[in-house]
Amino acid sequence: MNAAYCPMTTDEPTMQRVARALALARTVAVLTGAGMSAESGVPTFRGTDGLWRTFRPEQLATPEAFARDPGTVWEWYRWRRSRMAAVAPNPGHLALARLEARFSEFTVVTQNIDGLHARAGSREIIELHGNIWRDRCTANVNHLVVHRPDEPIAGGASGALPRCHCGAVMRPDVVWFGEALDPVNTQRACDAVRRADVVLVVGTSSVVYPAASLPGLARQAGAYVVEINPEETPLSREMDAVLRGPSGVVLPSIEGLLSP
Ligand code: OAD
Repeated sequence: MNAAYCPMTTDEPTMQRVARALALARTVAVLTGAGMSAESGVPTFRGTDGLWRTFRPEQLATPEAFARDPGTVWEWYRWRRSRMAAVAPNPGHLALARLEARFSEFTVVTQNIDGLHARAGSREIIELHGNIWRDRCTANVNHLVVHRPDEPIAGGASGALPRCHCGAVMRPDVVWFGEALDPVNTQRACDAVRRADVVLVVGTSSVVYPAASLPGLARQAGAYVVEINPEETPLSREMDAVLRGPSGVVLPSIEGLLSP
């Protein structure tokens, strides 16, 4: 075990170490999960108020559920869209977007489907689990419709199934349980963490693979890997540094320690 533990975000020595590593870095990758958006008001999956405490993923987030009852699955995604439309990027998203300009390469690899990194201004984003604002045709994966969070949610809470111009039913362009990730995105994510001097692992419980394999890949390739999370995760002990705190506080604090 070689993690430098930080019980609070006010653990200055660990913050300073992380800031020093970033100051020396040219290439940075950030892996984010639901905790990244928690301070925006987007619920996580596995916390005390997590979505998977109330909803059963096998009824809502699997290809089988969609084949059985697409109306219920769409109703759930429309409800999630309506919640996500009402939120805004938090100080953590905004700090990452500002940090991007400081490095020759800075990639956000996110498991989140809420689109908040892009809304905050990040530009290099790999969305491993898709994007809730995109509909994808069930007959042709290249037929996509992109919605804006500020437009009325088509069909309302329990409206008709959205159809593609080709006539087939559309589905949310997100990854469901039992589905493979887009191999191009996965490869890009692996490349980004392997190239990175520093990898920040922010707001993820690190239990869902293949995303949870990225920090290990980064360490094998020699990156300095930092976890930012109020809670311990199965990967905490593999980290070079751990900052225990909410990302909306920790990320702006780290940014504040870097020279202007
Ligand atoms: P989880 O809900 O599993 O974990 C959220 C993590 O965020 C936990 O470790 C929390 O301690 C942490 N957290 C909570 N508030 C935070 C804050 N303010 N700042 C930083 N961290 C905070 O979410 P994910 O790890 O993203 O997949 O879950 C991974 C995947 O499982 C999701 O993408 C989704 C889900 O099933 C699919 O839907 C395919």
